[in-house]
Amino acid sequence: MDFNTIFRNNQEWVASKLAADPDFFKSLALGQTPEYLYIGCSDSRVTAEELMGAQPGEVFVHRNVANLVISTDNNLNAVMQYAVNELKVKHIIVCGHYECGGVKAAMNPRDLGQLNSWLQSLRDVYRFHREELDAIDDEVLRYDRLVELNVQEQCINIIKIDHVQRAWYTSGFPHIHGWVFDVRTGRLKDLGLDMKKVFRDVKSIYDLMPLHGL
Ligand code: CO
Repeated sequence: MDFNTIFRNNQEWVASKLAADPDFFKSLALGQTPEYLYIGCSDSRVTAEELMGAQPGEVFVHRNVANLVISTDNNLNAVMQYAVNELKVKHIIVCGHYECGGVKAAMNPRDLGQLNSWLQSLRDVYRFHREELDAIDDEVLRYDRLVELNVQEQCINIIKIDHVQRAWYTSGFPHIHGWVFDVRTGRLKDLGLDMKKVFRDVKSIYDLMPLHGL
């Protein structure tokens, strides 16, 4: 795709939006009230809005390599604070994907430069679940399972965040969901995680507001 094509595509997109709703961009300029915060991989094949069929204004998006939620990530923390405290999103989604290069890299020890420190927590996920993962003979299935376990661990990392806990104690929101996008079929899979139950299980370790009840 060359640059001319991109700008021509943009003009066509504007025209189609205006044909359907002449006030589309006027309403868009008034502000955003998305109900979803989507945290996904930077992988070019995993387009947040397109795979969800979402329109501009509907999803607040954060993407990084291997959809990680790391407590010292200033970028992630700013996104989380704004999404939870200001936008008051109802749902936070962590969306991993099969055939994730980050996941494959984390399962194969190698010097990856800047990615060494970034993928360290993903190698930790492998270590936490090593017994289960090493018991899977098929390499593809082993990668697939780490993709799922990584989503689960990142959802757990979200419940450790103070903004999220504070919002839970006051409004009960946001709900946290773990998804996997299958690039081989285009299908989205809900892992069906019960994060309120997980929080109850680890509450004695991670609860930052123990004087509240949940
Ligand atoms: Co990826």
